[in-house]
Order: sequence, then C-alpha cells, then structure tokens
Amino acid sequence: MTQLRTVRARAHGKINAFLHVGDLREDGYHELINVFQALSVAETVTLTPAEANSVEVTGKYASADIPLDDSNLALAAVLALGRATDTQVPVHVHIDKNVPVAGGMGGGSADAAAALRAYAALIGCEDVDLLHEVAASLGADVPFAYTGGTAVGTGRGDDLNPVLTRSRFHWVLATSTGSLSTPAVYRRLDELRAEGKAPGKSDPAEVLRALGSGDAADLAAAVHNDMTEAAIDLLPDVGHVMDTGLQAGALTALVSGSGPTVGFLAENATHALEIAVLLEASRGVRHVVRATGPAHGAELLEG
Ligand code: C5P
Repeated sequence: MTQLRTVRARAHGKINAFLHVGDLREDGYHELINVFQALSVAETVTLTPAEANSVEVTGKYASADIPLDDSNLALAAVLALGRATDTQVPVHVHIDKNVPVAGGMGGGSADAAAALRAYAALIGCEDVDLLHEVAASLGADVPFAYTGGTAVGTGRGDDLNPVLTRSRFHWVLATSTGSLSTPAVYRRLDELRAEGKAPGKSDPAEVLRALGSGDAADLAAAVHNDMTEAAIDLLPDVGHVMDTGLQAGALTALVSGSGPTVGFLAENATHALEIAVLLEASRGVRHVVRATGPAHGAELLEG
C-alpha cells in the first residue's frame, strides 16, 4: 500500500579496515576482499511526495559539487527502486549532509542507502533481496551502507558477510584538499602491478581476528589497503597526511577505499581529539572528522 507521507531515513559513512584488490573482471570491476566498518557519522535523507522529483542538499557538508539531477545518488536510488517496483512516486529529496564529500568515506553511498530505505517505507516494499539488488545496481559500496555494522565484502565488494566485533573503535578521518577519481586509482594500481609493484595482501584473517578481540593496537597492526601506493602515486599529499597523523601519535594510518581520505586509529576519544587537532593544521587536509565504529545500517527515523 502506498502511503503518501514524509519519510526520513539515515545511513552512515564508512572506513575500510582491509582492502585487497584482485583481478580485473570482464565487467570492468575488480575482485575485492573488502572489510568495511560503518562509522558514527551519518547522512539523513527525507522524502516528501511532490508533483515532480527534486533534490535539495543542506547541512554541515552541503556543497555545490553535489549534483541535483538524476545523477544524484539519493534520487537515483528512488528512481531505481521505483522502476524495480513499478511505483514511481515523485518526491522532493532532502539530504542533510553530515559526511564530507570526499572519496573514501562513503557519503554518496550512504545517501543512496538512506534514500532506498526511505522510499521502500514510502511504498511499503519489504523485499530484502530486491532491495539488495537495487542497492548493488547503484554502486559496489551501497549494499554495505544499507546493511552497516562491520562486514567483509567479496566479489565486487557487494557480496556481504557480517564480521563479529568487540568494543568500539575510535577513528579520525582526514579528507583531502585534492581529489582522486576512483576508476583512475584502480587503473594506476593495475599499471603498478604490471610493472611488478604494489603486490598487495589477500588474507584478511588478522584484521578479522583483531576486530573480534576489540584490541585497537592489534587492529592497527593488521589494517591494510592494496590501493595505498596507487593513491599516493597520483596524489602525493595523501602520503604526507598519513605521516602527519602518525607523527601526531595515531596507532596507524590507512587510505580509506580508493582515497584520498585517510583514516587513523586512536586508543580512545581523548587520543582521537589530540590527533584531530594536529591534523587540522596539516597541509593537504580539508576536513577532520572523529567517529566511532561500528554503526548501524540504513534505518528509518521518526518524524
Ligand atoms: O560501483 P562504483 O560506482 O562505486 O565503482 C566506481 C568505480 O570503481 C568503477 O567504475 C570501477 O572503475 C571501480 N571499481 C572496481 N572494482 C570494484 C569496485 C569499483 O574496479 N569492485
């Protein structure tokens, strides 16, 4: 039953604690082993039935770079689920942006996941498999933004299995003044590998163990991202920001996703604040965000 009412949902940003990039597939994607953790920074998407579709972005990280047409991931999610369910209820999409627009933090995927959750509620769709399929059609990271928690993604990164975690991890994320195109970082990694560089690491066992034990120092020793060399090669400031955070006392530094966002692990909230203050003054850093993980998947909000 279609209920023409305003519906609001929230979905979270993420960090990748482990990312192995395997072979290039025929569909242009790479085989991944991708350990995601949802973070306590979230996007809120409100859908209001309207005469025609429209998008509005407000909030801390609203930016002129975010498209307001069909290519906006939240509206794309509404349209995709509308097609899949043959519903097409026109809506005004309002995004309250609390995740910086920055490669690696999953803000766009969170917009899509929150919009999907909200539109599903609006039209009364409870078909979990269909929602997963539509999420995957919007981007390889969207299914994780929809399910949240901590998970390992294989295939394109969208075949998800939950990971047991103990305790709460304290992360600091530094977004970059520069930008990186995700396909370009994957391409550069393929090139580096053709030259016998950036061999990578394919076993996430240590990271999974550390997440399960809840020990931040163990997790710091185990985190890994195969894309690090390629990201630094294309944007050397990424390496500089990693060094700055390590000098500030972070337990570890790692590129999140394909970058250029860099994540740092801290011992506790006070330690995270100390690292954040030093990073804020660093060259190449745009925003510094403190967050804990894990956090929820896409969820409906009241009112
Ligand atoms: O699916 P999404 O739009 O997030 O992916 C962006 C780009 O990242 C893809 O077009 C592809 O170049 C690259 N990618 C990849 N292998 C994956 C996920 C993404 O090569 N598993």
